[in-house]
Amino acid sequence: MSTLQVERTYETLLFNVSDHVAEITINRPDKLNALSAQVLEDLRHLVTDLRERDDVRAVIITGAGEKAFVAGADISELSALNDSSDGRNFAQNGQAVFSLIESSPKPFIAAINGFALGGGCELALACHIRICSENAKFGQPEVNLGIIPGYGGTQRLTRVIGRTHATDLILTTRMLNAKEAEEHEIVSRVVPLADLLSTARTLAATIAEKAPLAIKAALECIFEGADESIEEGLNREADHFGQLTTSADFHEGTAAFLEKRKANFKGI
Ligand code: COA
Repeated sequence: MSTLQVERTYETLLFNVSDHVAEITINRPDKLNALSAQVLEDLRHLVTDLRERDDVRAVIITGAGEKAFVAGADISELSALNDSSDGRNFAQNGQAVFSLIESSPKPFIAAINGFALGGGCELALACHIRICSENAKFGQPEVNLGIIPGYGGTQRLTRVIGRTHATDLILTTRMLNAKEAEEHEIVSRVVPLADLLSTARTLAATIAEKAPLAIKAALECIFEGADESIEEGLNREADHFGQLTTSADFHEGTAAFLEKRKANFKGI
């Protein structure tokens, strides 16, 4: 039985939690869900809250409407910048929000429903799993505006698709369509737009059934380990593995297997 809870409201986000899955919709469709300062502030509050909530095990993030996931930072706000330290703060503010997402113990699934440009591509890249609709388009158009990607694009795009293709995309601003994004492993699945949210919900529900501490440890090993030496990463993995064998959920999971029943994980 689904238990839908509509909670605190945000000016620029729609949000609900149902059956351990939170769903966030960036809701400025008339501006193609561009990331205004208010959107980033709302995201910072909501993501901080979701990271701590025991009743949330996976998070879906998408954009309102059928045209855009997020078409980038809000250019009308961006255009007012004219001071290097304000500009630096502008970039670091977005970076901090996206790092909160990437370091979350709960997986974030980006359901990319159209344009994912600039900050939209960077937001998607900070999520742990990315799926997109057939109409999705990915790109980093910042050099058209006389800036560079500032919310992590030069780093995360390079880590995801490699230096060769990241340099090409950032310097030319060429957009990738959904098929190309799948070929470049920006997304793991492409589905028709009509199936995007149901696919994301199925993915999230599948993950929400697993042992939360194991999901958290796996995310940390994959994402923190990516920037470590293999020895450091293997050590981290062994530490987490060892710690998990002391969890109640490990004993529940193994007992459930041996007793041929479904495990009931509690996140402890
Ligand atoms: N910031 C602020 N407003 C934006 C925006 C952004 N990043 N992207 C789109 N919008 C607004 C447009 O100004 C327009 O508003 P208006 O109706 O009040 O004029 C509305 O969203 C619709 O966009 P529009 O450009 O008319 O749609 P389109 O279908 O012709 O083009 C895009 C779609 C995505 C190709 C185009 O909007 C675009 O290039 N956006 C900017 C992408 C970008 O450079 N992002 C990086 C920013 S660092």
